[in-house]
Amino acid sequence: MATPIANRTAKLTIEGGPDGETETIELPLYAGTEGPDVIDIGKLTAQGFFTYDPGFVSTAACESSITFIDGDAGILLHRGYPIEQLAEQSTYLELCYLLLNGELPSAQNLDEFVKTITRHTMVHDQLRNFFNGFRADAHPMAIMCGVVGALSAFYHDSLDIDDPSHRLITAHRLIAKMPTLAAMSHKFSQGQPFMYPRNDLDYASNFLYMMFGSPCEDYEVNPVLARAMDRIFLLHADHEQNASTSTVRLAGSTGANPFACIAAGIAALWGPAHGGANEAVLNMLSEIGSFKNIDKYIAKAKDKDDPFRLMGFGHRVYKNYDPRAKVMQQTCKEVFEELGVEDDPMLKMAQRLEKIALEDEYFVEKRLYPNVDFYSGIILKAMGIPVDMFTVVFATGRTPGWIAQWNEMVSSSYKIGRPRQLYNGPSARDYVAIDQR
Ligand code: CMC
Repeated sequence: MATPIANRTAKLTIEGGPDGETETIELPLYAGTEGPDVIDIGKLTAQGFFTYDPGFVSTAACESSITFIDGDAGILLHRGYPIEQLAEQSTYLELCYLLLNGELPSAQNLDEFVKTITRHTMVHDQLRNFFNGFRADAHPMAIMCGVVGALSAFYHDSLDIDDPSHRLITAHRLIAKMPTLAAMSHKFSQGQPFMYPRNDLDYASNFLYMMFGSPCEDYEVNPVLARAMDRIFLLHADHEQNASTSTVRLAGSTGANPFACIAAGIAALWGPAHGGANEAVLNMLSEIGSFKNIDKYIAKAKDKDDPFRLMGFGHRVYKNYDPRAKVMQQTCKEVFEELGVEDDPMLKMAQRLEKIALEDEYFVEKRLYPNVDFYSGIILKAMGIPVDMFTVVFATGRTPGWIAQWNEMVSSSYKIGRPRQLYNGPSARDYVAIDQR
């Protein structure tokens, strides 16, 4: 638990009490290793007040040592390491280890970790039966919400959340099985047989193999695309207390099992304001249709009376640039060069949109920059990943972040999450019998 900063407190003065009195409440202040100081308002309830902060814009709901973001400076650190260095020099599984354990692994630790994850890639064979309960045209995110939650019905041996060894094996299982389930949800929608994981392949290559391979012929994974896929997973691995991670923590704070908590996170991620944005970017580009409509859609995005937003632009925290988007832009270039599709009309349209938005007064003034989803959608499309799988890819990449954040909470002392409200309904009144209404 954080210790208050010595000789420094915040004072809250409330004037105009019932008898005209002024009340001053002293609130402790805490300093993190990075970021703004935090005012502890936890005891305000005892003084008869709640605080009001819809969307948790100014509220720290937990302490965490996993990820730090400075949105104004465009900084993202995992356990202190900048995302740009991790994307350039590390791999997704090494980052998973870092998020879970707090330090980079030795070569031996990494080797063991990779072997452990690889040995858990298969899912219980009876889980296949769950897929048959879905319509063939079910959205893969709908399937993922169901089948990831269903894992809790299969792995009873690791559901004691107070046992660190159970939590560890659950983390390994989830990281290992997500690509398998993700690929199964795609294959199911195509009416194609599921592909068993291949443990001779690395994590990203195995995912591409399970997505695109078939039992009828060999499928050779393109190493440039595998590297891009690994980087996409890596760039999504964690993002501190975003909506889906906060959902995982809130669900976990009740003592719910981790598979159920991650399923809740997947559901929260699905929305277009969050992880669903990568799918929404492609849908938006299809809707815009051609160059000649771009100005019309930019005008729509700027019109206060029009609900249309430029998907893939803006971020709650990043107000300078999204450092993940910068790396993704480079990956985008590599993938397009490899595939020889630099002249793809949709890419050209996306580039035009990006240029306009970066120069237009409205977007500049509101500090709306392309975010990670803007580029990831375009890359995934070029790689042949179907649009409705984009958010599933995000969910797969985000799994180590969710599980590390859940583990951090469960292994410390924590309270059930229970926000309060500013009630604006009717005051107490007497029930009126039905014949008198
Ligand atoms: N297009 C047009 N106007 C926008 C956009 C946009 N994409 N985003 C924000 N604005 C305007 C908004 O209308 C508001 O204007 P005003 O101040 O005049 O009312 C102002 O900018 C601030 O917007 P906000 O909704 O109050 O900001 P927020 O921090 O609550 O929302 C956001 C952040 C990401 C939900 C929002 O920017 C958005 O909807 N973007 C499009 C969806 C998207 O790309 N989401 C992916 C986020 S990155 C991946 C992830 O971490 O999940």
